[in-house]
Amino acid sequence: MIEAKDLVKRYGPKHALRNVSFEVNRGEVLGFLGPNGAGKTTTMKILTCFIAPTEGSATVNGCDVFDDPIGVRSSIGYLPESTPLYTEMLVLEYLEFMANMRGFKGGEARKRIKLAVEQTSLEDVIGTEIRALSKGFRQRVGLAQALVHEPPILILDEPMSGLDPNQAAEIRDLIREIGRERTVILSTHDLAEVQVTCDRVLIVSDGRIVADDNPEELRERTGKSRFVVTVAGSDKDARKVRDSLTEIRGVDRISQGKTDQKDELVFTVRPNNNKDLRAEIFRAAVAGDFTLLGLEKKAEGLDKVFRDLTTGDTEESARDRAKARKKDRDAKKKKAAADAKSEEE
Ligand SMILES: Nc1ncnc2c1ncn2[C@@H]1O[C@H](COP(=O)(O)OP(=O)(O)O)[C@@H](O)[C@H]1O
Ligand SMILES: [Mg+2]
Repeated sequence: MIEAKDLVKRYGPKHALRNVSFEVNRGEVLGFLGPNGAGKTTTMKILTCFIAPTEGSATVNGCDVFDDPIGVRSSIGYLPESTPLYTEMLVLEYLEFMANMRGFKGGEARKRIKLAVEQTSLEDVIGTEIRALSKGFRQRVGLAQALVHEPPILILDEPMSGLDPNQAAEIRDLIREIGRERTVILSTHDLAEVQVTCDRVLIVSDGRIVADDNPEELRERTGKSRFVVTVAGSDKDARKVRDSLTEIRGVDRISQGKTDQKDELVFTVRPNNNKDLRAEIFRAAVAGDFTLLGLEKKAEGLDKVFRDLTTGDTEESARDRAKARKKDRDAKKKKAAADAKSEEE
């Protein structure tokens, strides 16, 4: 339904998009996830023909954004980041205005507005001024105007931002409902949101796509699990347990955690790949003759995956930096000691 190829957008020297390519299939709800400034809005504006890319091309429902902007726009319902609602208008007036803009008049316009109002449950407020509506209801009005021409594609720029949790849940349900027979792209900087709403996620960072996957696979692929191991014993046993766990093949790191339980020790075992180490940990307990009280596999959250991908700040690089700092400190200490010594002399 949508194909973007090698999109580049420059604002003067500033690269908003560096090289963005992706496809969206019919019926998919695609999440565009990334921090502020990543290039989400820019991509959406290109797909809706509000701005032209500096380089690259895109087609929407078979229409090229350069050659057939009218075809593109009639295929798309667009909810911009800040909806330009005419707040002094009544809801119905606004929807009539938007329907007219789309070229619908009289009975045809009324029929389409009625449908859009039903789909977004706006029946009770059509006679209300937009400025008197809550943010959640304004967002529904924005969705209704995007639906008036019954487009097969919806592009929603941060549709849940600024809503309280209840309003966000309502809009999310609504998007899922209207997304059943439509292709939807929505942007967000909220991970929890894509996890519940989207079939597929593109993570954008600094004008590039850094991941393309479904939310579950993304976590599986990038997020290693960790294993929380609770064993019977006191501090004097810690060494022995730790040594047994260290011997398991595939273990990267073990750290001892705090617990307020007497005679219990807690360790976190981190593997160096995606392997499930639970069976190995169990066997190590039997072989090492310590009693396993708990063994839990914990998946890294998608938010950690997101941070890693978008900041380049992986655990590994954080550890490297910590090592470098320690080396630095040690060198300073050494120098200070040497200086003190030479002064004595
Ligand atoms: N009209 C503009 N002029 C100059 N820079 C812009 C303009 N619009 C966006 N940018 C820059 O392009 C980058 C991407 O912006 P945007 O697409 O709005 O990101 P997002 O929607 O992911 O927050 C940002 O660094 C932003 O400052
Ligand atoms: Mg934006």
